[in-house]
Amino acid sequence: MDILEAIAKRKSVRAYLDKPVPADDLEKIIEAGRWAPNAGPFHISVIRNPELRQRINDRTLDAMVNSGIEFLRKRAALPGYQPLYGAPVLILLSAPEEGPYSPVNTSLAAENMLLMATGLGFGSCYLVSPTLALKGESNRSLAEEAGIPDGYGLVCAVIVGYAAAENKFTVGERTRKGSVSYID
Ligand SMILES: Cc1cc2nc3c(=O)[nH]c(=O)nc-3n(C[C@H](O)[C@H](O)[C@H](O)COP(=O)(O)O)c2cc1C
Repeated sequence: MDILEAIAKRKSVRAYLDKPVPADDLEKIIEAGRWAPNAGPFHISVIRNPELRQRINDRTLDAMVNSGIEFLRKRAALPGYQPLYGAPVLILLSAPEEGPYSPVNTSLAAENMLLMATGLGFGSCYLVSPTLALKGESNRSLAEEAGIPDGYGLVCAVIVGYAAAENKFTVGERTRKGSVSYID
């Protein structure tokens, strides 16, 4: 797949088959993340363990319900809504809590992974909702189980898997975002 095709084909997939991602494909996705532009440390936790994924999912859902944020409460109330959408792989990107470029470093790595996953034929989605379950002192022991180093905070996550036929919970049609000026 050429680069623009992968960029245009990438979309947020929110329903997955219960089928593992082959290890060699997963390694390529992680490798892509590690070649992103970078200005500082970050850590990638690859969580395939179903029981831990379920706990992170459930705690995220709970936090969405109790967030006091209208959009999150409404999403969480949709019938059958699961914030990790049943994906077989959850990739967490964490970085130093006080690092000025932590969000940028992790998100650039995440986008590379999303594009690689698309190029290999997988569905994927960029998420920030798991931060509700894994950030802060009250979530420290779960964060530790999830391999997030001490002093690091979760910035974002990527889920990967085989897309289910019906992409439930889709937010809307994909459109080009942002605005552009050419100054010649
Ligand atoms: C900062 C940020 C946070 C996001 N968090 C979530 C999330 O927690 N859950 C989710 O399903 N999608 C999340 N998304 C995905 C967006 O909803 C999605 O990218 C957007 O609707 C455009 O759709 P597309 O990715 O299919 O082009 C997030 C995207 C960004 C940039």
